[in-house]
Amino acid sequence: MQFKLSLSSVLAIIAATAVAVNAAPAVKGRNVLDVWSPRIISPDATTVWLSGSTVNVTWDTSDAPVLISNAAAITLNKDDRIASEGFLKEFGSFSLLDGSAEVTVPATVKPGKNYSITLFGDSGNSSPHFQITAA
Ligand SMILES: *[C@@H]1O[C@H](CO)[C@@H](O)[C@H](O)[C@H]1NC(C)=O
Ligand SMILES: *[C@@H]1O[C@H](CO)[C@@H](O)[C@H](O)[C@H]1NC(C)=O
Repeated sequence: MQFKLSLSSVLAIIAATAVAVNAAPAVKGRNVLDVWSPRIISPDATTVWLSGSTVNVTWDTSDAPVLISNAAAITLNKDDRIASEGFLKEFGSFSLLDGSAEVTVPATVKPGKNYSITLFGDSGNSSPHFQITAA
């Protein structure tokens, strides 16, 4: 079964997640409702992606909590506008514990700087700005 989510439903999911996290009781130490924002390794500020090519997004899983949400997704952003260039990975299509995901750079994206990705899991963590060049 494949899901196609509109941006508004994505934002509703994010809002619902935020409410759930805020509702978690304040306890000391790590628990299942801890927000985990994995550090994005690639792309970084030196990255140049070729439009239409297949590339890897990688992140650090060394500090992953035991239980995490399955609702991972990766968006492509221009000028910090989340998902302005769409989804590189749809929600639920991979696990945050994988540490990497192979994605295709959309061939329709205009060459330029100020691209970033956001890795959604428990919360959204964005990469630095990087560059996309024409094939
Ligand atoms: C992405 O990473 C996987 C695992 O390391 C590797 O097998 C694959 O060749 C990589 N893909 C690209 C496009 O670099
Ligand atoms: C990139 O974003 C910065 C602000 O974050 C802006 O000042 C700059 O003009 C942008 N550059 C391009 C090429 O869009």
